[in-house]
Amino acid sequence: MKLDGQTTRSIWLEPDGWSVGIFDQRRLPWALERLVLRTPGDAYDAIADMATRGAPLIGAVAAYGLALALREDPGVASLERAFAHLASARPTAVNLRWALERVRAAVVKQPTGERAALAYAEAARLCEEDVAANRAIGEAGLPLIREISARKGGEPVNILTHCNAGWLATVDWGTATAPIYLAHDEGIAVHIWVDETRPRNQGALTAFELAGHGVPHSLIVDNAGGLLMQQGRVDMVIVGTDRVTVNGDVCNKIGTYLKALAAQAHGVPFYVALPSSTYDPATPDGASVPIEERAADEIRFMTGPDDHGVAVRIGVTASPAVNPAFDITPAGLVTAYITQTGLVTDAKRLG
Ligand code: MRU
Repeated sequence: MKLDGQTTRSIWLEPDGWSVGIFDQRRLPWALERLVLRTPGDAYDAIADMATRGAPLIGAVAAYGLALALREDPGVASLERAFAHLASARPTAVNLRWALERVRAAVVKQPTGERAALAYAEAARLCEEDVAANRAIGEAGLPLIREISARKGGEPVNILTHCNAGWLATVDWGTATAPIYLAHDEGIAVHIWVDETRPRNQGALTAFELAGHGVPHSLIVDNAGGLLMQQGRVDMVIVGTDRVTVNGDVCNKIGTYLKALAAQAHGVPFYVALPSSTYDPATPDGASVPIEERAADEIRFMTGPDDHGVAVRIGVTASPAVNPAFDITPAGLVTAYITQTGLVTDAKRLG
């Protein structure tokens, strides 16, 4: 996508040809800063501390993390050590393990001296595939937006989204945002309701992206969606996901489930956009997904812009705070999955 007029992706190789560049998403949207990852530890830290985030992008960073490890030491022990460490960076998004397994499978039986180069090649391939998958998700979701636009006689299609499932959360395009970008580029009038997504405010990233692409949008507090649906001001919901299980349950950013419930209550179609890397054939249902519990201070403090990213304390800090980062939307609340191979309404056909 375009950033300051330049075509960019969310991850790239630096000019040295081996270190890995990403945006520091802890600083976005108020500061555009890049981070250079030179060791597997750098990749682990970027994922664990959410300098990089979003299920597909976490996978891409982990894949390059393994390549960085093999560059330092191409032995099998080094490979397994880096694999285990990177896999432990965050528990919920299945793309992390999926990407690591792909890179490991591509190198483990190959001659020691070739492993690092092969890992870089596999990481690059995985990134290209993510871009193509997201573009295909866009093509699959576009007719849904076209249809609503036609029904409304060209009035703006109001789409609600939660968290950031945009190009900053993938290698490019985004999952939930890909149909939106294509619709906008085609001249369809859209307007996006962007949930702020407390406590990490990923909605600010979505708003930053949409503003950069000129897509009309409004930032809303997480609790506004129900009212807007009740008032008939939401035509569809599109969210991304961190893991879809065999029975079609959807794990996504905390708050997604409440949006799905409200959508069902008001007859608003609820779509989940996912690449095949986010489908987890090894997990039967949502109850089996490990839900990340993050620091209570993410709730107690709001972070905003100054030169260092100022943290402002909110509320009564003596109170305990509980911070589950994801929730499970049961398959029954999903109208359809928007995948790289088209719309899927029966979860059995996701695998
Ligand atoms: O905690 P995060 O910011 O990594 O969570 C991101 C999300 O929940 C996204 O909605 C999901 O990964 C889909 S990204 C295309």
